[in-house]
Amino acid sequence: MRVAVCVSGRGSNLIALLDRLESSPAAAVVLVLTDRADAPALARARERGVATVVLRDYRDAAAWLGPLGEVQTELLVLAGFLKLVPAEVVQAFRGRIINLHPALLPQFGGPGMYGRRVHEAVLASGTRESGATVHLVTEEYDRGVILAQARVPVLPDDSPETLAARVQAVEHRLLPAVVLEAARVGRPVPLSTPLELTP
Ligand code: GAR
Repeated sequence: MRVAVCVSGRGSNLIALLDRLESSPAAAVVLVLTDRADAPALARARERGVATVVLRDYRDAAAWLGPLGEVQTELLVLAGFLKLVPAEVVQAFRGRIINLHPALLPQFGGPGMYGRRVHEAVLASGTRESGATVHLVTEEYDRGVILAQARVPVLPDDSPETLAARVQAVEHRLLPAVVLEAARVGRPVPLSTPLELTP
């Protein structure tokens, strides 16, 4: 399966995916897109020899659809992409775009809920559990069908940083598992077997 990955930040999930796919012929990352020319993820993708595209205006659907079409993208993965995907791109790839979210949806999602803010909201809520979610992308933030979740405890002395680190450790295994299942079936589907995700 030909996979394109869209990133805005550090790229640790991109690296986890590249590492996992090295040992699997079922899927390969053929393109990395970013809305931020200064994203560390972009440099990391280049170091790994992956083709990259910087979107000058992430709201311009044509800027996505041209390169995605050229590399014959079959699956588009948002791995720390923090903006809304243009509706035309969602329509062109309906059912073939997935997003990784650093909390248990549907509760801790929606516009403005990304990165540190998500973990702050989780801690403020007093919940004892958080996690990571992979879901299909629709025209709205964080609303598509949930494909897989991994849970982690929220500890009494957690800060947004300690909670984020615990969530990221499971993200790095959850996202590659969903991508490999998509490659096996031919499209993104709910994970058939729950992962053993003890950190
Ligand atoms: C990840 O934790 C991902 O869940 C989150 O951004 C981080 C990117 O980290 N995504 C969102 O908040 C989307 N709403 P990375 O760049 O190190 O992979």
